Amino acid sequence: MSRLQFFGFFLLINFAFGQYPSNYPRCNFGDSECIMKAVSQVLKLAVDGIPEMKIPGFEPLYVKTVSILQDGNSNVAIKLTLNDALIYGISNASIYKINGFEEDPKKSKYEIHAKLPNLKIVSKYNIDGKILILPIQGNGNGLLNFKDADLKFKFKLEPFAKEDSQLYTKISKIRLQFNTSKFTINLENLFNGNKALGDNMNQFVNENWEIIFQELRPAITEALTKVVSGIVDSVFQTVPYKSLFLEKSN
Ligand SMILES: *[C@@H]1O[C@H](CO)[C@@H](O)[C@H](O)[C@H]1NC(C)=O
Ligand SMILES: *[C@@H]1O[C@H](CO)[C@@H](O)[C@H](O)[C@H]1NC(C)=O
Repeated sequence: MSRLQFFGFFLLINFAFGQYPSNYPRCNFGDSECIMKAVSQVLKLAVDGIPEMKIPGFEPLYVKTVSILQDGNSNVAIKLTLNDALIYGISNASIYKINGFEEDPKKSKYEIHAKLPNLKIVSKYNIDGKILILPIQGNGNGLLNFKDADLKFKFKLEPFAKEDSQLYTKISKIRLQFNTSKFTINLENLFNGNKALGDNMNQFVNENWEIIFQELRPAITEALTKVVSGIVDSVFQTVPYKSLFLEKSN
């Protein structure tokens, strides 16, 4: 099992009042085809932030600390901390499946599937432990790369009212599945800067990425769940639910 600690989440945000920009795409409730395209478009439009919604830019997305603690009984027994992490690639997400987004958020089951051609995390790292049979130790600049990152997430929204008595929503439950077609790392300055050992270790991890990714997947998934729910919540908690959609024509 792995345990994850996650601190100092970025964007968020004084969940103030905000407005979904009038020139952004809107769809009818439950129109999955339209919403799928709209979400991809919004990710591109909003990449430098949405001032009307007080949402800062997210390319890259800043996360102060992520730390993964994986216990001694597994093939990968490490303590890994990423500090000042910059996550690249979210704006290039293409959404390939959408469910939910119906008129009554309480009854709607939300589901978003997205592919990110290249998800990259650049950060300061600190690692100590054992990967398969080899000890690993070091700290410095690090890069984690996920090719064809596949994120499937399901969530439920819970309505709440603000002083303006409009209906806002927030995430009440979220579940995420994560996969990649290739996971690679480049950790600089492993083993106190012993370049030969460090290069070997990076190569070893990259050659054995499948088994290592399997081991780390729960922890990575948990970290991404925090990131994704932060983004989703920042949208839903800021703008009235109905204002994200076209008005109903009866
Ligand atoms: C997004 O995709 C474009 C086109 O493939 C690429 O040039 C750009 O570097 C990508 N951006 C990020 C942040 O990955
Ligand atoms: C994850 O992706 C790999 C490579 O594309 C694939 O072989 C594997 O079946 C996928 N695993 C899951 C759980 O989807």
